[in-house]
Amino acid sequence: MDMSRRTVIVGAAAAGVTAATLGTAHAAEVRKPVRTPFGTLADGTRVHRWSLENGGTRLKVLSYGGIVQSLEVPDRRGRHTNVSLGFDTLEDYVSSSPYFGALIGRYGNRIAEGRFTLDGRTHQVSVNDGENTLHGGAQGFDKRVWDVEPFTKGSDVGLHLYYTSVDGEMGYPGTLRTKVTYTLTRDGDWRIDYEATTDRATVVNLTSHVYWNLAGESSGTVYDHELSIAASRYTPVDAGLIPTGELAKVAGTPFDFRRAKTVGEDIRVAHPQLLHGKGLDHNWVLDKGITSRPGHIATLRDPSSGRTLRIATTEPGLQFYSGNFLDGSLVGSGGTVYRQGDGLCLETQHYPDSPNHPSFPSTVLRPGQTYRSTTVHSFSA
Ligand code: GLA
Repeated sequence: MDMSRRTVIVGAAAAGVTAATLGTAHAAEVRKPVRTPFGTLADGTRVHRWSLENGGTRLKVLSYGGIVQSLEVPDRRGRHTNVSLGFDTLEDYVSSSPYFGALIGRYGNRIAEGRFTLDGRTHQVSVNDGENTLHGGAQGFDKRVWDVEPFTKGSDVGLHLYYTSVDGEMGYPGTLRTKVTYTLTRDGDWRIDYEATTDRATVVNLTSHVYWNLAGESSGTVYDHELSIAASRYTPVDAGLIPTGELAKVAGTPFDFRRAKTVGEDIRVAHPQLLHGKGLDHNWVLDKGITSRPGHIATLRDPSSGRTLRIATTEPGLQFYSGNFLDGSLVGSGGTVYRQGDGLCLETQHYPDSPNHPSFPSTVLRPGQTYRSTTVHSFSA
Protein backbone atom coordinates (compact mmCIF):
# COMPACT_ATOMS: atom_id res chain seq x y z
CA MET A 1 0.00 0.00 0.00
CA ASP A 2 1.38 3.42 -0.86
CA MET A 3 1.73 6.07 1.82
CA SER A 4 -0.89 8.43 0.38
CA ARG A 5 -3.60 5.73 0.66
CA ARG A 6 -2.45 4.81 4.16
CA THR A 7 -2.77 8.47 5.16
CA VAL A 8 -6.33 8.57 3.79
CA ILE A 9 -7.31 5.51 5.82
CA VAL A 10 -5.69 6.68 9.01
CA GLY A 11 -7.43 10.02 8.55
CA ALA A 12 -10.76 8.34 7.92
CA ALA A 13 -10.36 6.15 10.99
CA ALA A 14 -9.58 9.22 13.08
CA ALA A 15 -12.76 10.83 11.76
CA GLY A 16 -14.74 7.80 12.95
CA VAL A 17 -15.25 6.31 9.49
CA THR A 18 -14.65 2.56 9.34
CA ALA A 19 -12.81 0.93 6.46
CA ALA A 20 -16.02 -0.79 5.36
CA THR A 21 -17.84 2.51 4.89
CA LEU A 22 -15.08 3.75 2.59
CA GLY A 23 -16.82 1.58 0.02
CA THR A 24 -13.91 0.27 -2.02
CA ALA A 25 -12.70 -2.95 -0.46
CA HIS A 26 -9.15 -2.55 -1.79
CA ALA A 27 -8.80 0.77 0.04
CA ALA A 28 -9.15 -1.02 3.39
CA GLU A 29 -5.99 -2.04 5.15
CA VAL A 30 -6.31 -5.64 6.27
CA ARG A 31 -6.46 -5.86 10.04
CA LYS A 32 -4.43 -8.51 11.79
CA PRO A 33 -6.33 -11.15 13.80
CA VAL A 34 -6.56 -10.30 17.49
CA ARG A 35 -6.06 -12.93 20.22
CA THR A 36 -7.79 -12.88 23.61
CA PRO A 37 -7.96 -15.49 26.41
CA PHE A 38 -11.09 -17.69 26.39
CA GLY A 39 -10.51 -19.93 29.40
CA THR A 40 -8.46 -22.83 30.67
CA LEU A 41 -9.10 -26.57 30.28
CA ALA A 42 -9.07 -28.92 33.29
CA ASP A 43 -5.50 -30.00 32.39
CA GLY A 44 -4.32 -26.37 32.53
CA THR A 45 -4.18 -25.77 28.76
CA ARG A 46 -5.06 -22.20 27.90
CA VAL A 47 -7.61 -21.61 25.15
CA HIS A 48 -7.70 -18.46 23.05
CA ARG A 49 -10.23 -16.74 20.90
CA TRP A 50 -9.11 -15.12 17.66
CA SER A 51 -11.13 -12.25 16.17
CA LEU A 52 -10.89 -11.53 12.45
CA GLU A 53 -12.73 -9.10 10.22
CA ASN A 54 -12.72 -8.51 6.48
CA GLY A 55 -15.18 -7.41 3.81
CA GLY A 56 -17.98 -6.95 6.34
CA THR A 57 -17.66 -10.46 7.86
CA ARG A 58 -16.57 -10.84 11.50
CA LEU A 59 -15.32 -14.22 12.66
CA LYS A 60 -14.41 -15.43 16.15
CA VAL A 61 -12.51 -18.72 16.34
CA LEU A 62 -11.39 -20.78 19.34
CA SER A 63 -8.14 -22.71 19.49
CA TYR A 64 -10.27 -25.43 21.14
CA GLY A 65 -11.81 -27.47 18.32
CA GLY A 66 -11.14 -24.72 15.78
CA ILE A 67 -14.63 -23.68 16.82
CA VAL A 68 -16.39 -20.81 15.07
CA GLN A 69 -17.76 -19.20 18.20
CA SER A 70 -19.38 -16.33 16.34
CA LEU A 71 -19.79 -15.29 12.70
CA GLU A 72 -21.39 -11.92 12.05
CA VAL A 73 -22.60 -10.71 8.68
CA PRO A 74 -24.78 -7.72 7.73
CA ASP A 75 -28.43 -7.83 6.70
CA ARG A 76 -29.83 -5.82 3.80
CA ARG A 77 -29.68 -2.67 5.93
CA GLY A 78 -26.09 -3.28 6.96
CA ARG A 79 -26.94 -4.52 10.47
CA HIS A 80 -24.59 -7.21 11.73
CA THR A 81 -25.73 -10.21 13.70
CA ASN A 82 -24.19 -13.53 14.76
CA VAL A 83 -25.56 -16.20 12.38
CA SER A 84 -23.92 -19.25 14.00
CA LEU A 85 -25.11 -21.07 17.11
CA GLY A 86 -22.65 -21.31 19.97
CA PHE A 87 -21.82 -20.67 23.60
CA ASP A 88 -20.29 -17.87 25.64
CA THR A 89 -17.98 -20.00 27.75
CA LEU A 90 -15.36 -22.69 27.28
CA GLU A 91 -17.04 -24.76 30.01
CA ASP A 92 -20.22 -25.01 27.93
CA TYR A 93 -18.27 -26.12 24.86
CA VAL A 94 -16.42 -28.78 26.86
CA SER A 95 -19.43 -30.12 28.74
CA SER A 96 -22.33 -30.04 26.34
CA SER A 97 -21.68 -28.90 22.80
CA PRO A 98 -23.40 -30.78 19.97
CA TYR A 99 -20.36 -29.84 17.82
CA PHE A 100 -21.37 -26.14 17.57
CA GLY A 101 -19.08 -24.50 15.00
CA ALA A 102 -16.39 -27.17 15.37
CA LEU A 103 -13.85 -28.75 13.07
CA ILE A 104 -14.72 -32.41 12.65
CA GLY A 105 -12.19 -35.24 12.25
CA ARG A 106 -10.68 -37.65 11.71
CA TYR A 107 -13.90 -38.89 10.13
CA GLY A 108 -16.97 -36.65 9.70
CA ASN A 109 -20.32 -38.35 10.38
CA ARG A 110 -20.79 -42.06 11.11
CA ILE A 111 -18.88 -45.28 10.61
CA ALA A 112 -21.05 -48.37 11.22
CA GLU A 113 -20.14 -50.05 14.50
CA GLY A 114 -16.91 -48.04 14.41
CA ARG A 115 -15.34 -50.72 12.28
CA PHE A 116 -13.75 -50.87 8.84
CA THR A 117 -11.22 -52.96 6.94
CA LEU A 118 -8.26 -51.36 5.19
CA ASP A 119 -5.68 -53.36 3.23
CA GLY A 120 -7.00 -56.55 4.81
CA ARG A 121 -6.77 -55.32 8.38
CA THR A 122 -9.83 -54.53 10.48
CA HIS A 123 -9.77 -51.42 12.66
CA GLN A 124 -12.07 -50.75 15.61
CA VAL A 125 -12.43 -47.05 16.36
CA SER A 126 -14.08 -45.26 19.28
CA VAL A 127 -17.84 -45.83 19.40
CA ASN A 128 -19.80 -42.83 20.72
CA ASP A 129 -23.24 -42.85 19.05
CA GLY A 130 -25.16 -45.96 20.01
CA GLU A 131 -23.23 -48.77 18.37
CA ASN A 132 -21.62 -46.45 15.81
CA THR A 133 -18.84 -43.88 15.73
CA LEU A 134 -19.77 -40.26 15.09
CA HIS A 135 -17.50 -37.35 14.10
CA GLY A 136 -14.22 -39.12 14.87
CA GLY A 137 -15.18 -40.78 18.17
CA ALA A 138 -15.36 -39.77 21.82
CA GLN A 139 -12.48 -37.28 21.59
CA GLY A 140 -12.60 -36.06 18.01
CA PHE A 141 -10.82 -33.06 16.50
CA ASP A 142 -13.65 -30.86 17.86
CA LYS A 143 -12.30 -31.52 21.39
CA ARG A 144 -8.61 -30.93 20.65
CA VAL A 145 -6.58 -27.77 21.11
CA TRP A 146 -5.19 -26.63 17.77
CA ASP A 147 -2.01 -24.60 17.21
CA VAL A 148 -3.11 -21.36 15.62
CA GLU A 149 -0.99 -19.14 13.40
CA PRO A 150 -2.56 -15.88 12.20
CA PHE A 151 -1.74 -14.38 8.81
CA THR A 152 -2.49 -11.54 6.48
CA LYS A 153 -1.78 -12.04 2.79
CA GLY A 154 -2.64 -9.38 0.22
CA SER A 155 -6.26 -8.50 0.89
CA ASP A 156 -6.91 -11.73 2.85
CA VAL A 157 -6.78 -12.30 6.59
CA GLY A 158 -6.88 -15.68 8.26
CA LEU A 159 -5.70 -18.40 10.56
CA HIS A 160 -3.74 -21.58 9.99
CA LEU A 161 -4.81 -24.27 12.47
CA TYR A 162 -2.62 -27.32 13.06
CA TYR A 163 -3.39 -30.57 14.80
CA THR A 164 -1.45 -33.84 14.74
CA SER A 165 -3.47 -36.93 15.55
CA VAL A 166 -1.11 -39.71 16.58
CA ASP A 167 -1.18 -43.26 15.26
CA GLY A 168 -3.91 -45.16 17.09
CA GLU A 169 -5.72 -42.09 18.44
CA MET A 170 -9.40 -43.03 18.74
CA GLY A 171 -8.39 -46.32 17.04
CA TYR A 172 -7.47 -44.81 13.67
CA PRO A 173 -4.28 -46.02 11.99
CA GLY A 174 -1.50 -43.59 11.03
CA THR A 175 -0.24 -40.32 12.43
CA LEU A 176 -2.31 -37.69 10.66
CA ARG A 177 -0.87 -34.19 10.32
CA THR A 178 -3.74 -31.81 9.74
CA LYS A 179 -3.68 -28.19 8.64
CA VAL A 180 -6.87 -26.20 8.28
CA THR A 181 -6.83 -22.64 6.96
CA TYR A 182 -9.67 -20.22 7.64
CA THR A 183 -9.51 -17.22 5.30
CA LEU A 184 -11.70 -14.12 5.22
CA THR A 185 -11.45 -12.47 1.83
CA ARG A 186 -11.96 -8.81 1.05
CA ASP A 187 -15.44 -9.72 -0.21
CA GLY A 188 -16.28 -11.17 3.19
CA ASP A 189 -16.16 -14.81 2.02
CA TRP A 190 -15.16 -17.39 4.61
CA ARG A 191 -13.01 -20.04 2.96
CA ILE A 192 -11.84 -23.28 4.57
CA ASP A 193 -8.90 -25.22 3.14
CA TYR A 194 -8.19 -28.61 4.69
CA GLU A 195 -4.94 -30.52 4.21
CA ALA A 196 -3.69 -33.74 5.78
CA THR A 197 -0.90 -36.26 5.37
CA THR A 198 -0.35 -39.63 7.00
CA ASP A 199 2.46 -42.11 7.63
CA ARG A 200 0.17 -45.18 7.33
CA ALA A 201 -2.91 -45.83 5.26
CA THR A 202 -5.94 -44.36 7.03
CA VAL A 203 -9.37 -42.84 6.39
CA VAL A 204 -10.01 -39.08 6.48
CA ASN A 205 -13.17 -37.01 6.15
CA LEU A 206 -12.85 -33.50 7.56
CA THR A 207 -15.64 -30.95 7.78
CA SER A 208 -17.00 -27.95 9.66
CA HIS A 209 -20.06 -28.18 11.90
CA VAL A 210 -21.43 -24.61 11.96
CA TYR A 211 -25.13 -24.38 12.81
CA TRP A 212 -26.52 -21.57 10.64
CA ASN A 213 -29.40 -19.27 11.43
CA LEU A 214 -29.22 -16.34 9.02
CA ALA A 215 -31.83 -14.39 10.99
CA GLY A 216 -29.56 -14.52 14.04
CA GLU A 217 -28.57 -17.32 16.41
CA SER A 218 -31.30 -16.56 18.94
CA SER A 219 -34.15 -15.83 16.54
CA GLY A 220 -36.12 -19.10 16.58
CA THR A 221 -36.27 -21.80 13.93
CA VAL A 222 -34.78 -21.81 10.44
CA TYR A 223 -37.89 -23.39 8.92
CA ASP A 224 -38.63 -20.24 6.91
CA HIS A 225 -35.13 -20.15 5.38
CA GLU A 226 -35.11 -20.99 1.68
CA LEU A 227 -32.62 -23.66 0.64
CA SER A 228 -31.49 -25.10 -2.64
CA ILE A 229 -29.08 -28.02 -3.05
CA ALA A 230 -27.64 -29.07 -6.42
CA ALA A 231 -28.21 -32.78 -5.86
CA SER A 232 -30.50 -35.23 -7.67
CA ARG A 233 -29.79 -38.08 -5.25
CA TYR A 234 -29.24 -38.67 -1.56
CA THR A 235 -28.10 -41.58 0.58
CA PRO A 236 -31.04 -43.13 2.53
CA VAL A 237 -30.14 -44.39 6.00
CA ASP A 238 -31.14 -47.09 8.46
CA ALA A 239 -32.49 -46.42 11.96
CA GLY A 240 -28.92 -45.77 13.21
CA LEU A 241 -28.41 -43.14 10.46
CA ILE A 242 -25.98 -45.37 8.56
CA PRO A 243 -26.35 -45.23 4.75
CA THR A 244 -27.94 -48.33 3.26
CA GLY A 245 -25.66 -47.96 0.23
CA GLU A 246 -28.44 -46.90 -2.10
CA LEU A 247 -28.22 -43.61 -4.00
CA ALA A 248 -31.91 -42.71 -4.15
CA LYS A 249 -33.49 -40.09 -6.39
CA VAL A 250 -34.74 -36.98 -4.60
CA ALA A 251 -37.47 -36.43 -7.23
CA GLY A 252 -40.92 -36.59 -5.64
CA THR A 253 -39.56 -36.77 -2.07
CA PRO A 254 -39.04 -34.26 0.77
CA PHE A 255 -35.34 -34.45 -0.17
CA ASP A 256 -35.82 -32.54 -3.40
CA PHE A 257 -34.14 -29.16 -2.90
CA ARG A 258 -33.10 -28.74 -6.55
CA ARG A 259 -35.38 -25.72 -6.64
CA ALA A 260 -35.31 -23.49 -3.59
CA LYS A 261 -37.98 -24.28 -1.01
CA THR A 262 -38.27 -23.51 2.65
CA VAL A 263 -36.59 -25.85 5.09
CA GLY A 264 -39.93 -26.37 6.85
CA GLU A 265 -42.01 -27.06 3.74
CA ASP A 266 -41.71 -30.86 3.78
CA ILE A 267 -40.17 -31.49 7.18
CA ARG A 268 -43.40 -32.93 8.59
CA VAL A 269 -44.16 -35.17 5.61
CA ALA A 270 -44.67 -38.76 6.79
CA HIS A 271 -41.72 -40.12 4.82
CA PRO A 272 -40.00 -43.07 6.55
CA GLN A 273 -36.56 -41.49 6.09
CA LEU A 274 -37.62 -38.41 8.08
CA LEU A 275 -38.41 -40.60 11.09
CA HIS A 276 -34.88 -41.94 11.44
CA GLY A 277 -33.23 -38.60 12.16
CA LYS A 278 -36.31 -36.80 13.56
CA GLY A 279 -36.16 -34.59 10.45
CA LEU A 280 -33.61 -33.98 7.74
CA ASP A 281 -30.24 -35.52 8.59
CA HIS A 282 -28.90 -36.99 5.37
CA ASN A 283 -26.12 -36.86 2.86
CA TRP A 284 -26.97 -35.29 -0.48
CA VAL A 285 -25.02 -36.71 -3.45
CA LEU A 286 -23.86 -33.53 -5.15
CA ASP A 287 -24.44 -33.58 -8.91
CA LYS A 288 -21.05 -32.01 -9.63
CA GLY A 289 -19.13 -34.81 -7.86
CA ILE A 290 -15.56 -34.30 -6.68
CA THR A 291 -13.96 -31.26 -8.29
CA SER A 292 -10.46 -29.80 -8.13
CA ARG A 293 -11.94 -26.33 -7.63
CA PRO A 294 -14.88 -25.45 -5.38
CA GLY A 295 -18.16 -25.62 -7.31
CA HIS A 296 -21.45 -24.03 -6.19
CA ILE A 297 -23.70 -26.58 -4.43
CA ALA A 298 -26.15 -24.83 -2.12
CA THR A 299 -27.82 -21.52 -1.36
CA LEU A 300 -29.49 -20.66 1.96
CA ARG A 301 -31.52 -17.46 2.28
CA ASP A 302 -33.39 -15.83 5.10
CA PRO A 303 -36.17 -13.77 3.49
CA SER A 304 -36.69 -11.57 6.57
CA SER A 305 -33.14 -10.18 6.74
CA GLY A 306 -32.15 -10.82 3.14
CA ARG A 307 -29.00 -12.60 4.35
CA THR A 308 -27.89 -15.19 1.83
CA LEU A 309 -25.20 -17.84 2.13
CA ARG A 310 -23.83 -19.52 -0.98
CA ILE A 311 -21.63 -22.58 -0.55
CA ALA A 312 -19.07 -23.91 -3.01
CA THR A 313 -16.96 -27.01 -2.38
CA THR A 314 -14.60 -29.54 -3.88
CA GLU A 315 -16.39 -32.32 -1.95
CA PRO A 316 -18.88 -34.84 -3.43
CA GLY A 317 -21.38 -34.80 -0.54
CA LEU A 318 -23.35 -32.47 1.71
CA GLN A 319 -24.71 -33.54 5.10
CA PHE A 320 -27.76 -31.36 5.69
CA TYR A 321 -28.83 -31.67 9.32
CA SER A 322 -31.85 -29.61 10.39
CA GLY A 323 -30.90 -29.28 14.06
CA ASN A 324 -33.28 -32.06 15.07
CA PHE A 325 -31.58 -33.05 18.28
CA LEU A 326 -31.63 -29.53 19.80
CA ASP A 327 -34.18 -30.07 22.54
CA GLY A 328 -34.35 -26.95 24.66
CA SER A 329 -31.65 -28.07 27.08
CA LEU A 330 -28.89 -25.64 25.99
CA VAL A 331 -28.62 -21.88 26.44
CA GLY A 332 -26.78 -20.25 23.56
CA SER A 333 -24.46 -17.27 23.29
CA GLY A 334 -27.39 -14.88 22.82
CA GLY A 335 -28.89 -15.96 26.15
CA THR A 336 -31.82 -17.87 24.68
CA VAL A 337 -32.64 -21.57 24.79
CA TYR A 338 -31.98 -23.53 21.60
CA ARG A 339 -34.88 -25.69 20.49
CA GLN A 340 -35.38 -28.12 17.62
CA GLY A 341 -34.70 -26.48 14.23
CA ASP A 342 -33.08 -23.33 15.64
CA GLY A 343 -30.06 -23.88 13.39
CA LEU A 344 -29.06 -26.11 10.49
CA CYS A 345 -25.77 -27.60 9.37
CA LEU A 346 -24.51 -27.86 5.81
CA GLU A 347 -21.46 -30.09 6.16
CA THR A 348 -19.45 -30.52 2.97
CA GLN A 349 -17.75 -33.90 3.04
CA HIS A 350 -17.51 -37.44 1.65
CA TYR A 351 -20.45 -39.71 2.32
CA PRO A 352 -20.98 -41.17 5.79
CA ASP A 353 -19.64 -44.69 6.36
CA SER A 354 -17.64 -44.60 3.10
CA PRO A 355 -14.98 -46.96 4.52
CA ASN A 356 -17.67 -49.69 4.47
CA HIS A 357 -19.07 -48.85 1.03
CA PRO A 358 -16.59 -49.58 -1.77
CA SER A 359 -19.03 -48.01 -4.26
CA PHE A 360 -18.83 -44.59 -2.52
CA PRO A 361 -15.99 -42.16 -3.35
CA SER A 362 -12.97 -43.31 -1.36
CA THR A 363 -11.87 -41.68 1.90
CA VAL A 364 -8.59 -43.60 2.09
CA LEU A 365 -5.39 -41.56 2.47
CA ARG A 366 -2.00 -43.18 1.97
CA PRO A 367 1.55 -42.11 2.80
CA GLY A 368 2.87 -39.75 0.10
CA GLN A 369 -0.61 -38.44 -0.72
CA THR A 370 -2.04 -35.14 0.51
CA TYR A 371 -5.71 -34.90 1.45
CA ARG A 372 -7.10 -31.60 0.19
CA SER A 373 -10.57 -30.18 0.50
CA THR A 374 -11.92 -26.65 0.12
CA THR A 375 -15.25 -25.04 0.98
CA VAL A 376 -16.15 -21.39 0.39
CA HIS A 377 -19.02 -19.61 2.18
CA SER A 378 -20.10 -16.40 0.44
CA PHE A 379 -22.45 -13.94 2.11
CA SER A 380 -24.69 -11.26 0.66
CA ALA A 381 -27.89 -9.46 1.63
C1 GLA B 1 -24.36 -34.55 12.33
C2 GLA B 1 -25.16 -35.79 12.30
C3 GLA B 1 -26.36 -35.66 13.16
C4 GLA B 1 -26.02 -35.22 14.57
C5 GLA B 1 -25.21 -33.97 14.49
C6 GLA B 1 -24.69 -33.56 15.85
O1 GLA B 1 -24.87 -33.59 11.55
O2 GLA B 1 -25.53 -36.16 10.99
O3 GLA B 1 -27.05 -36.89 13.20
O4 GLA B 1 -25.31 -36.23 15.21
O5 GLA B 1 -24.10 -34.14 13.66
O6 GLA B 1 -25.68 -33.49 16.80
